[in-house]
Amino acid sequence: MVPSVRLGKFLASAGVASRRGAEELIRARRVSIGGAVVTDPARDVGVEDAVTLDGAPVGAGTGRVVYAVNKPAGVVSTARDPQRRPTVVSLAPAEVRLYPVGRLDIDTTGLILLTNDGELAHLLTHPRYEVPKTYRAVVARPPVRERALSALRAGVELDDGPSLPARVERIGADTLEITLREGRKRQVRRMCEAVGHPVRRLQRIRIGPLELGSLPVGAHRALSADEVDALRRASVRPGGP
Ligand code: URA
Repeated sequence: MVPSVRLGKFLASAGVASRRGAEELIRARRVSIGGAVVTDPARDVGVEDAVTLDGAPVGAGTGRVVYAVNKPAGVVSTARDPQRRPTVVSLAPAEVRLYPVGRLDIDTTGLILLTNDGELAHLLTHPRYEVPKTYRAVVARPPVRERALSALRAGVELDDGPSLPARVERIGADTLEITLREGRKRQVRRMCEAVGHPVRRLQRIRIGPLELGSLPVGAHRALSADEVDALRRASVRPGGP
């Protein structure tokens, strides 16, 4: 069966307006499907439908989309999983083929981007320009003392080489905010383990200028053009975290 969504939701997911704003656009007769004005926000839209706003194409097939998703624990961040576990891609609309930008461990929650824009994905994950990413880690054996914080900031020895200097803030006896500009496998977990504080819970709360904010767990939202531009700019400005 061809997946379909309601027109209001389709426009909101494409980043055109909020759900309510999209409904207003539809009622104002500014939205067409296949050239015919549509006034019902509940009208179904499928992949084959050409949706326009004020005559300009919107959504699937019209170009690049970027979604922010709040990944739940237990969901893999690959596009497909041979073990058939739920994937982060299944949390966003299916009108276009999306790919996760980078990876989060299956147990890590929080902000991950999905896009069909290969160039943006490359920019955001290229080791040379990797944008800073901030994680909130709840760790074992509190309190985390100054010595451990200094070691994390300076770089700790890992089995694939020392970690680069990082920004590390203690926001509670057992809670750290760690900003890295590199993304090695299980890096935050290995860094915390190396200073004697294994990670109990890990959440990504920021990618460059983009905050997870109040996006509910399991939910997605389309980024605005301004947000995508800000991400692009962040990824082409090398420097420390
Ligand atoms: N560091 C980790 O250890 N795990 C993640 O999922 C992301 C960063």
